[in-house]
Amino acid sequence: MKIVSVQSLLHAAILVIVSTAAGRAEEKGTVPVSQQELQAKISYCKTCHGVSGQGFRGSYPMPRLAGQQPEYLENQLRAFVERRRTNPVMFNVAHVLSPSMVAALATHFQDLNPKPLGGAPKELAAAGKKIYEEGLPEANVPPCASCHGPEAKGDGAFPRLAGQLHDYIFKKLVNWSKERGQDPAKPDTSAIMEPITHGLTEPQIAAVAAYLSYLE
Ligand code: HEC
Ligand code: HEC
Repeated sequence: MKIVSVQSLLHAAILVIVSTAAGRAEEKGTVPVSQQELQAKISYCKTCHGVSGQGFRGSYPMPRLAGQQPEYLENQLRAFVERRRTNPVMFNVAHVLSPSMVAALATHFQDLNPKPLGGAPKELAAAGKKIYEEGLPEANVPPCASCHGPEAKGDGAFPRLAGQLHDYIFKKLVNWSKERGQDPAKPDTSAIMEPITHGLTEPQIAAVAAYLSYLE
């Protein structure tokens, strides 16, 4: 009796998931992408974002996409296209992607789980952990964990930070107001981070970036 009811519960749950997914595809009016198109696009992304989307450190840090929250990833691609987030490279990459391709790419990268690249000064990590977990009450900086999660895995529009390249995190937080939320007519989720980036000094940013870059 027990087994039967668990099975029927599972079945109902699966039905809900399937019909929600179908509803979403309908909403966007999307045509499914072929496996071939998707694989070609994934290879293209990885020429910059590294093997398994783990990020790449060349003359410019390419962010890790592996394990990223799909909603955040989709939001950023839209922000590049609408030039709310300034980056000439990613504008060119993103504006040709169909909604169904974006959704398929977001699912692909979310499911990858390579080890972090690391490389940050390890001695900074302890100070960074404290900022991540407790914030800086004297500078009105809330604990990062309150939004990005205790393990920095993110949730929905809140990005995963675990394993992200420390030099990428550093650059983004130092330059936030020059790169994000660039269309005053279209305020977006980047506004949430704006006062937080202003409350942190560069050494504090380097510390929290070092801590995050080692999290798996
Ligand atoms: C020619 C190199 C290049 C290619 C190819 C490329 N990207 Fe990027 N991407 C970048 C750079 C550089 C950045 C960092 C921009 C910045 O510093 O703000 C970036 C940033 C991003 C971000 C924001 C990450 C974050 O954590 O906010 C996403 C999402 C992204 N790329 C997705 C993709 C996807 C999906 C593809 C394949 C369709 C792709 N990129 C292909 C260079 C590239
Ligand atoms: C009140 C919620 C909140 C708190 C607290 C918070 N964040 Fe964020 N953070 C966000 C949101 C939302 C975004 C996505 C912004 C966007 O969509 O442009 C973000 C984005 C980021 C990014 C960009 C990620 C990327 O891949 O480019 C970094 C880095 C970051 N946060 C670091 C931190 C750090 C470090 C702290 C603590 C000092 C912190 N955040 C505290 C909400 C928060």
